[in-house]
Amino acid sequence: MTTADPEKIPDKPPLVLGLETSCDETAAAVVSGEGEILSNVVLSQLEEHRPYGGVVPEIAARSHIDHLNDIIRQALSEAQCGFRDLDAVAATAGPGLIGGVMVGLMTGKAIAAAHRLPFLGINHLEGHALSVRLCEEVAFPFLLLLVSGGHCQLLLVREVGDYRRLGTTLDDAAGEAFDKTAKILNLGYPGGPAVEAAAKSGDGHRFRLPRPLKGAPGCDFSFSGLKTAVRRELEKLGNRLTRQDVHDLAASFQQALTEAVLDRVDHALEIYLEQCSAGSHDGPRCLVVAGGVAANSHLKEGLARLCRGRGVGMVAPPPALCTDNAAMIAWAGVERLRRGLRDDLSLGARARWPLDPTAPRAAGAGVKA
Ligand code: KG4
Ligand code: ZN
Repeated sequence: MTTADPEKIPDKPPLVLGLETSCDETAAAVVSGEGEILSNVVLSQLEEHRPYGGVVPEIAARSHIDHLNDIIRQALSEAQCGFRDLDAVAATAGPGLIGGVMVGLMTGKAIAAAHRLPFLGINHLEGHALSVRLCEEVAFPFLLLLVSGGHCQLLLVREVGDYRRLGTTLDDAAGEAFDKTAKILNLGYPGGPAVEAAAKSGDGHRFRLPRPLKGAPGCDFSFSGLKTAVRRELEKLGNRLTRQDVHDLAASFQQALTEAVLDRVDHALEIYLEQCSAGSHDGPRCLVVAGGVAANSHLKEGLARLCRGRGVGMVAPPPALCTDNAAMIAWAGVERLRRGLRDDLSLGARARWPLDPTAPRAAGAGVKA
């Protein structure tokens, strides 16, 4: 259970240990209440999953068990502190692959219980949403585009714990679309960087691929048709396929995905700006882009152009804070502690945990909607 008690707001900036195990990164970090990252250790399981072309949940959970203790030890050592120096422990409690979430959550609770420390169970999406405030002074409300292998959402971030989901994917996440397209084109795993590299020497306008949901009302995304269209074009080329064809297909896919995302973000910006005016928020307007796909330069350039046209700033946290990490979990812990929030040790792991509980469940958005 989560409790809020103003008397429990710490009187000095707290030192928080964060743990992240919801997907295929085993991570631990120590972050101070002033936003200093004392350590941020991430062990990627990429090589363990590579032969399967995607994350295998059972392998992920077992690997977290094998490595988490050492990663925590390393995070404390790099931060030059021990458990007794900590003021709280924060661990991802969902959403994500449930076996992995349980490993980090139970470990976090055990450390908190053994060292009599406050405990915070963090929503992984809230970690992504707030991570930007770890490196820049971004005021509420801001618009968040979260684009990763597991998520594709547009959220209005109004305060810590106060989110309105404007849109989510109806099928694949953006990174998943990159990964599946890379698999179709035989470009390797993870697909995003491989598709982007191939696209650099390709013609993004050669193949006529769909821009799913472009022009439709709302801010939802859909990418599965795009991936299918790539497969169809590839089949048409048959055994005449050349390297240049593959590069042109990669570039055409990236172009189509970018245009589809920009259309959805433009709608979201409209809603965001309306809400800012209605709520008399006169501070700077900001779009925050987070998640692994935020590393894509083509997409980022398009988003920057769109924001400039609308008089909105754009911030993308550095890649190490954009992809899954534990510093963002520790920082979400800091933000929650500052508001007097705590969780007790009965808090359970959740495979599905939407940030906006009022948003309708999206049929194809998997456990992470
Ligand atoms: O945030 P992340 O590290 O992990 C989660 O999914 O939570 O995101 C990984 C995803 C993968 O699908 C990967 O293909 C994609 O981000 N990605 C990219 C690029 N770099 C990573 N997608 C497009 N372009 C990139 N340069
Ligand atoms: Zn994530």
